[in-house]
Amino acid sequence: MDIKVIQGSLSDVSCDVLIVNLFEGVKLPAGGTGTVDAALDNIISEYVIGKDDFKGKLGDTYVIPSYGKIPAQKILLIGLGKAEKFDSNTIRLVASKAIKKSISFLKAKKVCSILHGAGIAGLDPIDCAQMTVEGTLIGAYKFSKYKTKKNNNGYEGPTEFNIVEIDPDKLQRINEGLEKGKIIAEAVNYARDLVNEPASFVTPSKLAENAKSINGIECTIIDREEAEKLGMGSYLAVAKGSSEPPKFIHMTYRSANPVKKIALVGKGITFDSGGLDIKPASSMTNMKDDMSGAAAVLGIMNALTKLKPDVEVHGIIAACENMPSSTAYKPGDILKALNGKTIEVDNTDAEGRLTLADALAYADNLKVDQIIDLATLTGACLVALGYMASGIMGNNQELIDILMKSADRGGERLWQLPMYKEYFEGLKSDVADFKNSGPRWAGASTAGLFLKEFVSETPWAHIDIAGPAYLDKEIKELAKGPSGVGVRTLLNHIMSL
Ligand code: BES
Ligand code: MN
Ligand code: ZN
Repeated sequence: MDIKVIQGSLSDVSCDVLIVNLFEGVKLPAGGTGTVDAALDNIISEYVIGKDDFKGKLGDTYVIPSYGKIPAQKILLIGLGKAEKFDSNTIRLVASKAIKKSISFLKAKKVCSILHGAGIAGLDPIDCAQMTVEGTLIGAYKFSKYKTKKNNNGYEGPTEFNIVEIDPDKLQRINEGLEKGKIIAEAVNYARDLVNEPASFVTPSKLAENAKSINGIECTIIDREEAEKLGMGSYLAVAKGSSEPPKFIHMTYRSANPVKKIALVGKGITFDSGGLDIKPASSMTNMKDDMSGAAAVLGIMNALTKLKPDVEVHGIIAACENMPSSTAYKPGDILKALNGKTIEVDNTDAEGRLTLADALAYADNLKVDQIIDLATLTGACLVALGYMASGIMGNNQELIDILMKSADRGGERLWQLPMYKEYFEGLKSDVADFKNSGPRWAGASTAGLFLKEFVSETPWAHIDIAGPAYLDKEIKELAKGPSGVGVRTLLNHIMSL
């Protein structure tokens, strides 16, 4: 979809669908919607609102044909909800609802839209444009690569999306926000694509290839032999059961005068069968999503080369597959991680933390200012928080608080879970420093406590995305399936440093 801003009046643009908006309770629309209403001989105020009682409730839509009164074929009116509840997250949401309707119901190719939120106190046109574009691109996303039957007479979604603005003074700011929104949404959709792809296609080698193909970053791939020499015994144990070779990926985005250095670590289990402690079939169905953290990190690295913040960012992924076989690691095995600590394997399905152990220790050696990991780590986190929030833990409250704010601005949710040190007792081992899993209760917290053993003093936050990574139904701007969660939160975080 080609996205741009054009200068002019909404009542003059020609397109299949023209998106305008309405606050809840407004009887006589002003601004852009008012212009269109006037050009349509007040059909919106007198008929749609007056007689047909369209209230402008958040996300509600109403479609009217223009009957040739303006060049746009159809007008899609989208409800903005209550003015006092309106914020930039609302813009993203309504933009996504509007484009979804334009696609599913109207089969629009060329779409023009009002800039949602323009003229609302406290909202900069940059943010309005960014959110309008984020919502549009995230909302329009679909993964149809493997569908052979094209439905809807070959209709494949909109090809053009134009934000229409009358005020020439605002164009530059709108363009700036538009570009930012595009880069962020494309990173989200890149991550969604990667998770949607089958695990037999997105192997550890494929993740490494993708990392290498990102222009504008450095990329080092550490193969099994080299990882062995370095002492990554914990990560390599997980990889042992698979014929797919492990790939430890280290990407670096550099800038001339970085204000901070940070490391992003993404869990990259390209398929989690559970290993010898094999999962039941119903729990394995979506386990191609166990590299959602890695996919987000790859999306972020891609976006950084275009956003160009003054930050040094290391993207680290210990990619491998967790499979049962005669070469697989076994319960009872004792592993030695990169930082020298020993781990007794209690359960081969608690593999994510074993790969993260070495990835975090590696990140810690880079002497960065912050380490943040993103991982589909525990079913327990999904049980605790469901699909609406990721769990956050860490060794630094300030970093956690900042990340929670970045998440809010990105339309994602983080909820802090405790890391009571008493829970670490559940990981006590008779033969090694500790075990990789313990009692069932507070499973997300014990996983966090396990990871903590592999970071020294560096401020570190762990984000368990097991819930939001893969949606079983549409939520807000996101469709069913992979969500690209973490991309928006972490890009916001990096951009605000
Ligand atoms: N990848 C899973 C966690 C997961 C479960 C993610 C459901 C998304 C949806 C992880 O590797 C896992 O299997 N964790 C185990 C840990 C247990 C064995 C201590 C779990 O949560 O059951
Ligand atoms: Mn597992
Ligand atoms: Zn896993």
